[in-house]
Amino acid sequence: MNRNIVCIGAGYIGGPTMAVIAKMNPDRKVMVVDINAERIAAWNSEDYSLPIYEPGLVDVVKEVRGRNLFFSTDIEGAVKECDIIFVGVNTPTKMFGRGAGRASDLQYWEATAREIKRFAECDKIVVEKSTLPVRTAAAMEAILNGERIPRAKRVAQGDALAGVGSGISFTVLSNPEFLAEGTAIKDLLEPDRVLIGGPQTDAGAKAIQAVVDIYATWVPQERILTTNVWSAELTKLAANAFLAQRVSSINAIAGLCEATGADVDEVARVIGADGRIGPKFLKAGPGFGGSCFKKDVLNLVYLCESFGLHTAAEYWMGVIRMNQHQQERIVSRLFAAMFNTLANKKIALFGFAFKADTGDTRETPAGTVARLLAEEHVRVTITDPKALVNARRDLADLSDVTYEEDEYKAAEGADAVILMTDWRHYPTLDWNRIYDSMRKPALVFDTRNCLAAAELRKIGFRVLNVGK
Ligand code: NAD
Ligand code: UGA
Repeated sequence: MNRNIVCIGAGYIGGPTMAVIAKMNPDRKVMVVDINAERIAAWNSEDYSLPIYEPGLVDVVKEVRGRNLFFSTDIEGAVKECDIIFVGVNTPTKMFGRGAGRASDLQYWEATAREIKRFAECDKIVVEKSTLPVRTAAAMEAILNGERIPRAKRVAQGDALAGVGSGISFTVLSNPEFLAEGTAIKDLLEPDRVLIGGPQTDAGAKAIQAVVDIYATWVPQERILTTNVWSAELTKLAANAFLAQRVSSINAIAGLCEATGADVDEVARVIGADGRIGPKFLKAGPGFGGSCFKKDVLNLVYLCESFGLHTAAEYWMGVIRMNQHQQERIVSRLFAAMFNTLANKKIALFGFAFKADTGDTRETPAGTVARLLAEEHVRVTITDPKALVNARRDLADLSDVTYEEDEYKAAEGADAVILMTDWRHYPTLDWNRIYDSMRKPALVFDTRNCLAAAELRKIGFRVLNVGK
């Protein structure tokens, strides 16, 4: 077995993860392949205009691209050349047929399994990097083996996932990724933990060790955790569900703060001082966005339903409902504050990315708010330092939306500014200048509670916050 690594899927997960693995393993050849030729061309672009924005990523790619990291569309060549194959393709929520709106759409993942089977000429370790429903590894194994091994036989073999069908042995592991966008490089270089799940067999143990060796070049041994495959698959969904649940919990408290005069940031500070709870992920805001929280919680709901655990399914569904409600609440409060009519008013959204330090707009709360405002016939202007290309694409069907790179121009003549993304420079803008250029009374709705509200009031703004 050779030491070469390939990742199938050159997206937000495949690109940064493999760049860091290549950086920390200079003696290994690392390849990233994708069916999307445009994306691969961007990863290979001479001026490093990479397909995703992530702080520090360009520096790592500059260091390793062409040295031991290679981007390509040649999936066949890469599968033949590499004995460790990571699968990092997208697994969006299925929007059709059985499980629509909840289950994971596994068509991209299955296509990848079939590609691996078609091109493999010797034994391979196949590593699930994508977030997948529990027991996907069993389906992966069935496809790779070319025959479905009855569960009874599998259990008798100690649930071994090693392939037998074609004479080539495939061992399927789960190595879910916990990085967050905007901090991906730091998260990869200094992970809280790396999780590797594998079958409890000799082949499984060898395969786990082969993947442990990749990470052990920079991750302390005690942070590399190994489990069985099903625990690893479920842990990823559970971890995202717990994080999403914290955001929905604090947002549920925010509504109560607004109704009672409590201040959600004060409440969060004191709750978080309890060592059992901890201070992270207690920031009230416009609700969580991003490609994963909603899809992974929905996937958990679907799994619970599939196993007849309806009360558990309802519990997790509440996390999603609370999140949707948060954006509706923001627009309702704005509506009430702007004299119950928004038609023909101009509103500037400051920030469209789902969080700061990324250009990613998947499931961004700003998208939901923009659409709710468009329904009220608002003239919406969107500004964002990294996400305007994606914003234009996401809202292409809305006619009354304009896009402006310059925040000052975006606010000109506006009745309100809604701060949607916590970009670090927003508090440092010249808010006097913004106020002067707006129609009066001028309102700021700071959904991230990151601006100095008292200063804004002194300037003359009416100010709304979340949870205050
Ligand atoms: P993405 O859409 O950015 O990238 C997926 C890539 O896979 C695309 O470029 C697509 O062209 C490619 N692809 C699809 N089918 C293919 C095939 N048959 N052969 C080759 N390439 C194929 O998605 P992403 O954000 O990188 O997420 C990928 C997975 O990682 C998901 O399961 C997600 O839940 C998980 N994940 C993502 C993050 C994150 O921060 N984005 C974090 C942890 C886990
Ligand atoms: C999240 C997890 O944090 C990662 O561990 C996981 O790997 C990843 O999902 C994934 O599976 O894709 P990410 O979505 O990139 O990472 O970003 P987060 O920092 O988790 O933020 C998610 C959303 O929650 C953002 O919209 C953010 O603004 C919001 N959030 C976060 C809050 O509103 N309040 C908080 O206190 C924290």
